[in-house]
Amino acid sequence: MQILVTGGAGYIGSQAIKLLNQQGYNTVAYDNLSYGYRGSVNWGEFIKGDLSDTAKLKKTLLDYRIDMVMHFASYISAGESVENPPKYYQNNIVDSLNLINTMLSCGVNKLIFSSSAAVYGEPQEAPITETHPLNPINPYGMSKYLIEKALKVYADVEGLRYISFRYFNAAGADPDGELGEKHDPETHLIPLIFDALTGKREDIKVFGNDYNTPDGTCIRDYIHICDLVDAHILGLGLLENGVKTQIFNLGNGAGYSVKEVIDAVKKVTGHKIPVITTARRPGDSSRLVGSSEKARKILGWNPKYPKLEQIVSTVWQWLKTQ
Ligand SMILES: NC(=O)c1ccc[n+]([C@@H]2O[C@H](COP(=O)([O-])OP(=O)(O)OC[C@H]3O[C@@H](n4cnc5c(N)ncnc54)[C@H](O)[C@@H]3O)[C@@H](O)[C@H]2O)c1
Repeated sequence: MQILVTGGAGYIGSQAIKLLNQQGYNTVAYDNLSYGYRGSVNWGEFIKGDLSDTAKLKKTLLDYRIDMVMHFASYISAGESVENPPKYYQNNIVDSLNLINTMLSCGVNKLIFSSSAAVYGEPQEAPITETHPLNPINPYGMSKYLIEKALKVYADVEGLRYISFRYFNAAGADPDGELGEKHDPETHLIPLIFDALTGKREDIKVFGNDYNTPDGTCIRDYIHICDLVDAHILGLGLLENGVKTQIFNLGNGAGYSVKEVIDAVKKVTGHKIPVITTARRPGDSSRLVGSSEKARKILGWNPKYPKLEQIVSTVWQWLKTQ
């Protein structure tokens, strides 16, 4: 089976490419390298291309006889999306629609889409299930929400078959130490803590320690990238077996506080980390945790790295190789 992996040079896409190839799938990474790294694509083919380049997409889909697309390519910073909505609407909505239209014009009708917990907005329950109301509160979340809405219409009218995965916080590194998270700029907690540890930044800021949580810091849900990719590979099987559409949360269902994450990094590395506690940040919810019961039940998904210390250990192992 030939799989086009958009965003294949990025953090999650590159790990997907490695695991797909190890499991016997053929991959073609399609990435404009705006945020990804050519050096992260060590398996399969690589095409430097943009989602908006219809001719190149078409040629790639046809030349490589693509059967299915995993669509990771997008801009990913909720904060930046508030400052620059057009950037997000163009890339994540317009250019994603271009990908879907081009796929269908080439007879490729199976898609796995990287959605986000950002589609839910302010949580009304914990853990959040897939039936939670969708009410995104920033342009990034809105871009994922609108593509999910469009996918449903494409499925009803155009015969698209798709799975949308709503990730909570993707975290961790390749357990073999080959790949890891190197977003630039970095906004995710675990790499930021490691940046404070290695001196790349002065300290790690904890925004508020007076939330209604056991230690007063915000609680988030972290999922190891290999577990996340495993779910995609199971999803691929579901589409192969004729499933038309499905939506799944991907998180670990438990959640860890900011303080617990910092403590886990200290414990795993044995290093001190400069921490500064400051005022709450507007817009931060106290607890954002997803239920993955549906993925476990329907996909048979069973995360291999559910513990925070396991996730952090893979990052430490990878960083030591850098
Ligand atoms: N990292 C997380 O915690 C997280 C959480 C929820 C959802 N997601 C989603 O997962 C996906 C992958 O995230 P990531 O962390 O690997 O991000 P990433 O920035 O590391 O990877 C995205 C890749 O897409 C490429 N890209 C962006 N726009 C493109 C375009 N128009 N044409 C071609 N390539 C383009 C970039 O160059 C980059 O390599 C994204 O869709 C993101 O919204 C990630």
